[in-house]
Amino acid sequence: MFKISQSSSTLSPKKSNYNWIELDAVDSTNNYAMGLVHAGTAQHGTVVLAHHQTKGKGQRGKVWATEPGANLSFSIVVKPGLLINQAFQLLATVAVTVRNELEMYIGDEASIKWPNDLYWRDRKTGGILIENVLRGKDWQWAIIGIGININQTSFGDLKNPVSIKQITGKQTDVTAFAKQLHTAILNALMQLKETGFTSFFDDYNQHLFRRNEVVRLKKETRILHTRINGVNLQGQLSTGIETEEYFAFGEVEWLL
Ligand code: BTN
Repeated sequence: MFKISQSSSTLSPKKSNYNWIELDAVDSTNNYAMGLVHAGTAQHGTVVLAHHQTKGKGQRGKVWATEPGANLSFSIVVKPGLLINQAFQLLATVAVTVRNELEMYIGDEASIKWPNDLYWRDRKTGGILIENVLRGKDWQWAIIGIGININQTSFGDLKNPVSIKQITGKQTDVTAFAKQLHTAILNALMQLKETGFTSFFDDYNQHLFRRNEVVRLKKETRILHTRINGVNLQGQLSTGIETEEYFAFGEVEWLL
């Protein structure tokens, strides 16, 4: 039913081994990974990959539903080594790394839609859901859940999804993609610790969806026509043409 193996990465992080747990089906890889954390069996770098999620979780309590066997649904457990008020650094580093990986398949129209969506043109190729385990102020674990549309070509009435296959016409090996991305993310997190956030922050802003464009955002009942200027170091969205206005996660909704 499922496979647990140790995978060795050829790139740094050195020759470390990571738990690689591959499941045919599970409710949510994030839930499964959280179970490992609570059972005390997770390590930094542990992966839970499922070929089918029966109750995948999206951002803000939404459901993340995808066709069985067609897409990437996986979670990476990490020890962040940051303060919880630096949570945007982890998210942005992961988002930039996923975008860079996607660029190799779908080209430079891959972007990051604030705060944690991956886009191609104006369509969604994937999303990130990070869940945290804190003890007091100590940020002990982060579960980085990533869903990418890879080989699915029909999405029913979902609003604006797109898969790598729809963009390139080619089938992609989901597990191979996951292995590359896992290595890239662990390397990026090591770089974040060693050299700091600046280059990831710049990369995030450089590839920010609709940057310097006027867009429509919704704040409660108000519709704003405003320009996207970038994000600040705390991850707030900077908007505005003459006066700048910042928004935190969840404060505004995109109207596309
Ligand atoms: C979003 O865009 O709403 C975030 C989607 C995150 C989905 C991934 S799939 C793997 C991991 N397990 C989950 O239940 N959710 C995340």
